[in-house]
Amino acid sequence: MYKQIQLNGITKTYGKQNVKTVALNDISIRLHKNNLTSIVGSSGSGKSTLLSIVGTLEKPTKGTVYYDEKNISEIRANQLSELRNIHIGFIFQQFHLLPALTAIENVLAPLFHRKTSYNKNTKAKELLELVGLSDKLHALPSQLSGGQQQRVAIARALIAEPDWILADEPTGNLDTETSEKIIALLMEIKQQTACGILLVTHDIALSRQADRIIEMKDGQIIADTRINNNLVQTND
Ligand SMILES: Nc1ncnc2c1ncn2[C@@H]1O[C@H](COP(=O)(O)OP(=O)(O)OP(=O)(O)O)[C@@H](O)[C@H]1O
Ligand SMILES: [Mg+2]
Repeated sequence: MYKQIQLNGITKTYGKQNVKTVALNDISIRLHKNNLTSIVGSSGSGKSTLLSIVGTLEKPTKGTVYYDEKNISEIRANQLSELRNIHIGFIFQQFHLLPALTAIENVLAPLFHRKTSYNKNTKAKELLELVGLSDKLHALPSQLSGGQQQRVAIARALIAEPDWILADEPTGNLDTETSEKIIALLMEIKQQTACGILLVTHDIALSRQADRIIEMKDGQIIADTRINNNLVQTND
């Protein structure tokens, strides 16, 4: 399990000189396991870009990402995707469910060809139950509402018991009550597995339930706040 993900002087630009967008501008942070960190900030401030760099889906233009002492840029592509499969659970802004697979098959997809210490089917059913979809196990994505598809995507991100959960607006399509359940579920998983969670959200009330809030603006971190005092780690 990786205890810490560290970004050192991360800049990410898109496009060429005259149409260049600076999505991230010299960001340095340390993220700790057993922490739920909210990321807030207006549209276009760089939240999704930050998540994809932390999750090794994108390479920074400048700077270095470390998983513990491991420099990610020195890992070969196939090993990097393996590291991602094993250690990271993504919940994207778009759900990316496979349309030909049922809800439970989508949840099981990350474990295809993988041995687990637990019964995959039982676990998939449990997770779908936890997100309130026990009656939709065999429904196709096209037969589910947006919020229900989002909940399938959440169950899918959790099935492999990742050390890090990267969630981009996971409750964006959900009503307040379901959103609160999802956050409670994430916190329970954090308690059980001591995983690290990054949660991008527009919802200020939800963001305050985290251990730490990072606020972004124009590709920079403008505030980094610890919410409760019971934490082992301090800001650095
Ligand atoms: N693939 C890309 N190509 C070009 N520009 C991009 C790309 N991805 C992001 N950007 C730009 O980088 C900036 C940051 O985008 P990002 O998606 O990280 O913002 P965000 O904070 O997640 O916004 P939102 O809340 O709307 O999801 C924006 O100006 C965006 O237009
Ligand atoms: Mg985004």
